[in-house]
Amino acid sequence: MRKKLSEVEPYPPSEDTFFLADYIKNEKGDYALDIGTGSGYLAALLSKSFSVVVGTDLSFHVLKKPGYFTTNNICCNAADALNQQFDLIICNMPYLNTDEILDIRTDGGRDGLEIPMKIIDSAKSRIKPGGKFLYVTSSLSNFKKLISHTELDGFNVSILAKKKLFFEELILVKAVKLLS
Ligand SMILES: C[S@@+](CC[C@H](N)C(=O)[O-])C[C@H]1O[C@@H](n2cnc3c(N)ncnc32)[C@H](O)[C@@H]1O
Repeated sequence: MRKKLSEVEPYPPSEDTFFLADYIKNEKGDYALDIGTGSGYLAALLSKSFSVVVGTDLSFHVLKKPGYFTTNNICCNAADALNQQFDLIICNMPYLNTDEILDIRTDGGRDGLEIPMKIIDSAKSRIKPGGKFLYVTSSLSNFKKLISHTELDGFNVSILAKKKLFFEELILVKAVKLLS
């Protein structure tokens, strides 16, 4: 049964969180956005090297219980509520291949793509031309299709890193917004 948004607990920082953390600790700039911020672990890391960091999450309940970061959090779908362009957007995607979205923290819908595609579609107009979108997906999803979708949304896409875990391979995607 689908959990009510008011019953969702923050996703605890996990292998995929730390995988993304390793790559964002060297990024710097003015404006950064963490979509699906959860505990705020990654947003807190970004706040060391960006002037303004915004975190969004679909669950207000999650945002009320931040573990690591407490300001500039907005409850909305992906980046839909934002009227700002960012130098960097990051997202540790809910990427599991599921028939339904029972747990918004992990379930991506069919092929693990439905939610990630919506997030990318929402992010695309909120990145400055030449800005970067770094997201984590997995071999458990149809990540090749997700990459094609990202390219069609106006990004130059490459796989920055992969990490083998026991039952899956994490994939870090770098998408650079095309200039026009
Ligand atoms: C895999 S967890 C990542 C949490 C945290 N960023 C981390 O790396 O530990 C995915 C997060 O995305 C949020 N989420 C799921 N769908 C979303 C959407 N459409 N818009 C915004 N946040 C969403 C979930 O509530 C959850 O906090």
